[in-house]
Amino acid sequence: MRYALVVPAAGSGRRFGASVLRKQYEPLAGATVIEHALAPFLADARCHRVVVAIAADDTAWPHVAARCGERGTCPIGAVTGGAERAESVLRALIALRSGLDDDEWVLVHDAARPCIARAEIDALIAAALPHPVGALLAVPVADTLKRAAVTGTTAVARTEGRESLWRALTPQMFRLGALAGALEAAQAASRQPTDESQAMEWQGYAPLLVPGDVRNIKVTTPADLALADAILQRNRTTRQTP
Ligand code: CTP
Ligand code: MG
Repeated sequence: MRYALVVPAAGSGRRFGASVLRKQYEPLAGATVIEHALAPFLADARCHRVVVAIAADDTAWPHVAARCGERGTCPIGAVTGGAERAESVLRALIALRSGLDDDEWVLVHDAARPCIARAEIDALIAAALPHPVGALLAVPVADTLKRAAVTGTTAVARTEGRESLWRALTPQMFRLGALAGALEAAQAASRQPTDESQAMEWQGYAPLLVPGDVRNIKVTTPADLALADAILQRNRTTRQTP
């Protein structure tokens, strides 16, 4: 099989805090966050094309693209992302659609997830290939879940059952045409899915949950960056790193 990779990297990192650098370009374990997020895909012969969605005023990407280009032969393109993550992904899919058939597989992976391991990519692909819709990496919820009485306050209203609840990670893997159609339908309905699976779910599909690795964290705050650094340093010997 072969797949194209879409990497949404057009976010502003509001929760990471004010910085001249967007969080995806923060230095991390000898490279940058986004270079770690791309590394196992660039080392994967099945990945035949990469499209990264970047912000309109992004000046850091060309430097990263040049370094990534030295690491492999897979063509890496960029599109200007949108105001929401789903829009950034859709713009990248539209770019892919100009040269690829609708039944091509696409993996979507957040630029802010630098600890993705090759074993997870392999597990996702193995599960998605025979599935009629596609699949996503996810982790069963481990903590007890509390709902606050009012959004933004801290008084407990009740405890939510965690049975059957999973946290969705990336990558997520779907057919190019079906995913682009689902994101277009969401956009037409002015709905903002927070991952690809949600857009597919709104179309009536039931994507497959594939157990991922808890170390595949998303860098949201500076504390996550320190955690990602520890994970990458520890796994240096067994994982693909830039
Ligand atoms: N993203 C994107 N386009 C957007 C918003 C987000 O491509 N309009 C990307 C981010 O760059 C990131 C991924 O989607 O790689 C996951 O989003 P998130 O972690 O929420 O990043 P930000 O939106 O940048 O952070 P925040 O929500 O704290 O502002
Ligand atoms: Mg965001």
